[in-house]
Amino acid sequence: MTKRVTVPEILAAKGERKLTELTAYDYPTALLADKSGIDMLLVGDSLAMVVLGHEDTLSVGMTEMLHHTLAVSRGASRAMVIGDMPFMSYQASVEQAVLNAGRFMKEARANAVKLEGGARIVPQIRAMVEAGIPVQGHIGLTPQSAAQFGGFKVQGKTAEAAKVLIEDAQALAEAGCFSIVLEAIPSSIAEMVTEAVAVPTIGIGAGPACDGQVLVVHDVLGLFDRFVPRFVKRYAKLDDLVVEALTKYRDEVVQGIFPGPEHCFMISEEEAKKLGKS
Ligand code: KIV
Repeated sequence: MTKRVTVPEILAAKGERKLTELTAYDYPTALLADKSGIDMLLVGDSLAMVVLGHEDTLSVGMTEMLHHTLAVSRGASRAMVIGDMPFMSYQASVEQAVLNAGRFMKEARANAVKLEGGARIVPQIRAMVEAGIPVQGHIGLTPQSAAQFGGFKVQGKTAEAAKVLIEDAQALAEAGCFSIVLEAIPSSIAEMVTEAVAVPTIGIGAGPACDGQVLVVHDVLGLFDRFVPRFVKRYAKLDDLVVEALTKYRDEVVQGIFPGPEHCFMISEEEAKKLGKS
């Protein structure tokens, strides 16, 4: 049986090797990402945008997140599966936060949860860690707070904002997070944050100094082009391949080429004769 990536392994990786994290939302993607040796699979609330077609991440709830996390858990046997806590599943109270985090572990078989925010969500993180739930933090551009930021904007661009980011990261590490996602912040500030905490930082639009990187799988594979942030690198352009394959299928059906004899079930000549068919 494959050994799953653990929290102690992630912690020990800091300064030793770069960590890899990727989003996944379903069973086949989890199987493929696991084969690729990705360390952590995040069932991100980006599900709302790249899979369910919403404008932002706010509309997705616990039901959808648990449903997709369970599918990923079934596909991943090596990668650590991290369930992303959706908007309003942890902000309102510590009790609700712990109960919802517990649902990710119990019902969706996640190995950890992720939540967005700095010092202001430390009470929730402490309570989860006390309950035995591993937590990944997430600061910088936290999409659930995009309305507060005035949109999807790079964070930490002033000295004052950078100091707050460093303090937030330290508060999250102190509260027990085993890693912290840094999203859309200048590379030099991400480097300062990374040096300021003992736990690994995982960057997305935060430059090369982070202890690891995370990207949305649809961006990596070129399957989502509604908008492509500067920090995305496309390693394939599957959308063109998919359209090409689907168009060929459609054409072959219309032209009577598909299905061919090799795709069909036959009866014996003897049975055909009984039916008056030669
Ligand atoms: O939901 C998500 O995909 C995320 C990553 C961008 C870190 O939070």
